[in-house]
Amino acid sequence: MTEAAHHTPVVRLAPAKLNLTLAVVGRRDDGFHDLHSVFVPLALHDVLTVAPAGTRGRDTLHVTGLDAGPLDENLVLRAISATRAAVGEGPGRPATPPLAVRLEKRIPVAAGLGGGSSDAAAAIDAAIEAWGASDVLDEARRDDVAASVGSDAPFFLSGRPALVEGRGERVTPLTGVHGHPGILLVIPGVAVRTPDVFAVFDGAHGGSGGDGSVRMTSGHLAQELGNGLSATDLIARAGVLASANDLLAAAALVAPGLIQVRRALTRLLGKPIGLSGSGPTLWTLYPSLGEAEAAATTVEAAVGDGSVPSIGERPASIIPTTIRTGHEGAAT
Ligand code: C5P
Repeated sequence: MTEAAHHTPVVRLAPAKLNLTLAVVGRRDDGFHDLHSVFVPLALHDVLTVAPAGTRGRDTLHVTGLDAGPLDENLVLRAISATRAAVGEGPGRPATPPLAVRLEKRIPVAAGLGGGSSDAAAAIDAAIEAWGASDVLDEARRDDVAASVGSDAPFFLSGRPALVEGRGERVTPLTGVHGHPGILLVIPGVAVRTPDVFAVFDGAHGGSGGDGSVRMTSGHLAQELGNGLSATDLIARAGVLASANDLLAAAALVAPGLIQVRRALTRLLGKPIGLSGSGPTLWTLYPSLGEAEAAATTVEAAVGDGSVPSIGERPASIIPTTIRTGHEGAAT
């Protein structure tokens, strides 16, 4: 038995993520890299709305808000196709009619915030609900579909703070942070392609991983977040976390000027500044959203007067947000 298909639109919030740590453990035979990384979802999110659209034709995608790049590269349509293939056809299988998808894009793309993978995970989840297909795709099969679409997508299916290992397919949920620590995101206006950063990393490391120090920090943080950590205790670790990203040096080569922006922000805010994923998003932790908002105003003024340099073609985005903690999940 499958549950009834939905005829009303299915709405999903697709959160951004931040890497509090990112250790590259080593290069794999398939060209990807084994990672050890603590991921947290953020309040910053895209909004995905999915509705069945008749019985014939193709899935469609309409994007509003920020530039999401070329439509034919968008992971949302790929995720829906992969989900349809996994549901399959035949007796006992629900119909998988074309879907009309609207995506309100608020997470900057190619920023190290996982927006594309999050949209993909939300699309998998929403398509399953729209088709009434939850009985035919259990959690393990959804994870497989997600992993086939993007390395970060399995994390977003759970939407909880997690230790992410392997290529991204091993996701261990963590208790996370108590409270709602603020995060200031500063996203320099330069798109960074993840494969370019890994290629530079490999060039410098000859296929092996980082020197082990980030891996050790990542292990400690995963253990602490496994038990649950207060916002105050997380902030006390900010200095160590801000340098716990093995991709920092490679990202700085791919995005010239990134180190200067990071240094200027450290001077301006008097706080350690971390890098999310393969960049270029820089982050700072605050006890609350209010304090992150105040810092955003300070950074906007400093970008305006040039004391924080502008790099890339687009203006920097400055976004105060919070870490999503506990059990809020990815769904509305
Ligand atoms: O899976 P996804 O398309 O997000 O990965 C983008 C690129 O990032 C891959 O082509 C690969 O170059 C790199 N990558 C990696 N190891 C990972 C995740 C991504 O090498 N664990």
